[in-house]
Amino acid sequence: MTTIKIALLGFGTVAQGTFNLLQDNAELIRNRTGVNVEISKIFVRNPDKYSHITLPETAQYVTDIDEGLKDDSIQMVVELMGGTNFAKDCVEGALKAKKNVVTANKDLLAEAGPYLLDLASKNGVDLRFEASVLGGIPIIRTLYESLAGNRITEIIGIMNGTTNFILTKMSEEGLEYNDVLSDAQAKGYAERNPDADVEGYDACRKIAILASLATEKTVSYDDIYTEGITKITDIDFKYAEKMGTSIKLFGTSRIKDGKVSAYVAPVMISKNNPLYSVNDVFNGIVVKGNMLGTSMFYGSGAGKLPTASAVVADIIEAVQNIDKNVPLGWTDEKQEILPMDQTKFRYFIRVAGSYRNKEQELNEYFGKAEVVELYGMDEFAILTKEMTEGELKAAASAFDTKAQSRSEYGIKQMIRAAL
Ligand code: HSE
Repeated sequence: MTTIKIALLGFGTVAQGTFNLLQDNAELIRNRTGVNVEISKIFVRNPDKYSHITLPETAQYVTDIDEGLKDDSIQMVVELMGGTNFAKDCVEGALKAKKNVVTANKDLLAEAGPYLLDLASKNGVDLRFEASVLGGIPIIRTLYESLAGNRITEIIGIMNGTTNFILTKMSEEGLEYNDVLSDAQAKGYAERNPDADVEGYDACRKIAILASLATEKTVSYDDIYTEGITKITDIDFKYAEKMGTSIKLFGTSRIKDGKVSAYVAPVMISKNNPLYSVNDVFNGIVVKGNMLGTSMFYGSGAGKLPTASAVVADIIEAVQNIDKNVPLGWTDEKQEILPMDQTKFRYFIRVAGSYRNKEQELNEYFGKAEVVELYGMDEFAILTKEMTEGELKAAASAFDTKAQSRSEYGIKQMIRAAL
């Protein structure tokens, strides 16, 4: 039986998961591929750190990257180090050496995707990246393979487990943001520096990749409006509870008549929304295609084995296509993104004071809106009709100016709503 040798770059959580999976399911993988898939070299800076892990005789740690990239017996490189500079050099080197590459590195894809995909194609090998977006949910393969006969019109997802865990706890237990974040950090769900998750940057890179796949052009993450969850409060969830709604961090992209919108933001949704019951650290994604209609996918978006499962699926597919490039990805042509001001929503807005005093002005600025009041609060909320974000901003600013002119504090919160 042929053996395909792999160089694994990095040996962190996902890499160890990949290593374990390939060992534990070795027979199954042999039966499915007809080849022996073998991790032969593991590139790490400091092998002593991993002395507690026993490697099979066929595998060894290397500290010189060239031992992986310049070894002709190695046909595949699996990059699981993360970061962009060194990882890019390694992936570039591997592709130029005509080695297939599998990566879980969304930052690398978001930054140099088209260049590396083109390089793979020119060298007759593959660059695969299923594990870069939503870990255990096979959304990349779904877009380029299962839905290949569709024009994708909409992708909406809960793409970040950390923020979904925080929002779920706030919703279910009435807790404040900071308390839940500290708890999530203590449990190891949230990083010490949680910005990438809570500010929406992680979800932004994921939707950039998915929108790029859907449009086949480069959707740059810099062009995607990104708002995290740090301003969501326990009071917002009190209103949400009364309204029978919830608040979720969505990554969204819509494609209509060649125009593309993309954003990451907290959105208030009702129980009817299929993403309403995606809770805790789970991810969920709704995809619409012009022939398909709507499909939804649910699962673990991160974690050792779910992500390793995606890496190994890519390894298997690359093994099955070892001597050719399978077209996949997007070009470096820039996809324009509609300004956020042109995107339409309804809006949940909390306003200081009592509704009775403000009813007339609110109608004047926002049109007729639904009103929500909580007992014993010196504030109330409205749910506006649908309008563009530009219209909303203009109305909110005019309303605030008027409120401030009478020394009143105006708008306290605005959350987009899909109700
Ligand atoms: N930190 C991410 C999440 C996983 O919480 O979903 C990696 O993208």
